Amino acid sequence: MHYTILAAPIQDGAGRGGCHLAPAALRAAGLAATLKKLGHEVEDVGVIEPGPTAAVAHANHALKALPQIAAWIPAVTEAAYRAGAGREVLPIFLGGDHVISAGTLPGVARSAAERGRPLFVLWLDAHPDFHTLDTTESGHLHGVPLAYACGLPGFTGYFPRLDVKVEPTRVCAMGLRSVDPAERHALAKAGVLAYDMQAIAEHGVVPLLETFLARVAAENGMLHVSFDVDFLDPTIAPAAGTTVPGGVSKSEAYAIMDLLHESGSVTSFDLVEFNPLLDESGRTATLLIDLVARLIGRRSKTENFEAFDHDSQIE
Ligand code: ARG
Ligand code: MN
Ligand code: MN
Ligand code: MN
Repeated sequence: MHYTILAAPIQDGAGRGGCHLAPAALRAAGLAATLKKLGHEVEDVGVIEPGPTAAVAHANHALKALPQIAAWIPAVTEAAYRAGAGREVLPIFLGGDHVISAGTLPGVARSAAERGRPLFVLWLDAHPDFHTLDTTESGHLHGVPLAYACGLPGFTGYFPRLDVKVEPTRVCAMGLRSVDPAERHALAKAGVLAYDMQAIAEHGVVPLLETFLARVAAENGMLHVSFDVDFLDPTIAPAAGTTVPGGVSKSEAYAIMDLLHESGSVTSFDLVEFNPLLDESGRTATLLIDLVARLIGRRSKTENFEAFDHDSQIE
């Protein structure tokens, strides 16, 4: 397996600026270098560029930066499709805010359809991002990508027409703890499997995830994992724009990555909402790189400790 890193430095979908700096910060913190050290071929293929913006108006006047984002989505979709998920390459898409998934999901859905395999999505996030353009009250478009990719109504004429939709009953959202009423209703109606932090506390993250992964394996599915930094508890990962207390712990996050690696089902990965401007200590970047390394198979303790010793690596 080799890995390809694609950056979509979008920040217009978020309420605060800075997450467009994530790809550069993760590169400086040694993302590609760490993966290469594990013996993998890693291609850091650089940056997706948005298409031209066109004027668009929408009845929901809360919507922020709709033309800018509408210009990004086809470019990300095309790049995600061309990245070739489901063959010998595992694309890692770096945001940018979570609106990048309005491109990565349709792109990999198209790849899965071509390969005749069902696409499953594991959405690791404090938020389901299941608003439509009509229901979002904040108007921040990082709150809509999953709803769009699942084919919810109201995007036509604003976002590209979907070639291939994500089947909502093949989506598992975990870590939820900030769900708006319109989203709660839409998730239930669409049949998304949604585990909030309460469910994780009651049942444990490992059994819940194992059940979902067994389903993916039984159907020989492709699995896209969308990892929003605010999935993690803000005490361990402060560098996200919309942190919510009561998130997943470090050991839970490692356990998830280990299970994902063991499953062999993951075919593409988003890492989004990391905002280096909120990361004075650098510990969010270090943790994120450790988590990606675990996803691709790092096990030994010594290797984990090494990643915390970044100063000596940068010199
Ligand atoms: N539901 C809230 C909103 O629509 C928060 C969304 C946060 N999304 C994210 N990708 N951080 O504004
Ligand atoms: Mn999100
Ligand atoms: Mn979130
Ligand atoms: Mn927001």
